Amino acid sequence: MTVILDGKSLADKICEQLKSETQKLSKKPKLAVIYAGDNPASQIYVKNKQKKADYIGFDSVVISLPNDVTEENLLEHIYILNEDDDVNGILVQLPLPEGINTQKIIEAIEPVKDCDGFTAYNFGRLALGYKPYAYPCTPKGIVKLLEHYNIKLQSSHTVVIGRSNIVGKPVSLLLQQKNSTVTMVNSYTKNLKDITKTADILISAAGLPNFITKEFIKNNAVIVDVGINRTEYGLTGDVDFNDCFESASFITPVPGGIGPMTIAMLMENTLELYKIQRLFKI
Ligand code: GUN
Repeated sequence: MTVILDGKSLADKICEQLKSETQKLSKKPKLAVIYAGDNPASQIYVKNKQKKADYIGFDSVVISLPNDVTEENLLEHIYILNEDDDVNGILVQLPLPEGINTQKIIEAIEPVKDCDGFTAYNFGRLALGYKPYAYPCTPKGIVKLLEHYNIKLQSSHTVVIGRSNIVGKPVSLLLQQKNSTVTMVNSYTKNLKDITKTADILISAAGLPNFITKEFIKNNAVIVDVGINRTEYGLTGDVDFNDCFESASFITPVPGGIGPMTIAMLMENTLELYKIQRLFKI
């Protein structure tokens, strides 16, 4: 029987624990989100992040900037947040408006406040197998969800579709550290189906609505859908859920799968950074 990997329910449980831990703190952790432009999906993500931070009891601030914001202006905001002792986590919502050098902006974030784990310092530590200040949220959420359902990572073959810095690259690194054998594929890969059909665990972060059908998957595979695609029929993942359901042993829904886990991991990271920063001050 196929099991649905209920990310929403695990994320809710994690957030309840974070809330109760936060209530015991003398000072509230604070998350700052910078959002530039008018990407409608980003707008929703940012709102959801702030809502969850408020629910847990964090202080939060969203700095909304126009589509024509300059790099200098973005950098100024980051420098101010880096210096502000009340701010524990800084997140720059991606994608940034066209013409902005994303790398330059992310690199301006103080690594100990980088709650996305996107700076070269934190990402480099992850790649080297050292502990970063924070692990990227979506990969961390995927691994946590798989482990919660006791899915064996060691000696499994994972195929990751997509090589983004946000999901594909970091999740492949994390899973290799768990002794999974990881194959990364992308839109240029030849004979894609032949490869995805060998996966014990298939992670799709391709951004292609309903792209993965049962022809792509092995019987009893674990299917993790990271896609959040807005189509004329509403929100849909990369995976054709109904088509793949019977063949899969475990499958994440969209919505209610990886999305809520990503937000829960952002909250967990913010609290962890708060604790690290408090230690620095002693
Ligand atoms: N855009 C899509 N996912 C993410 C994420 O996890 N963090 C940031 N900063 N931007 C994103």
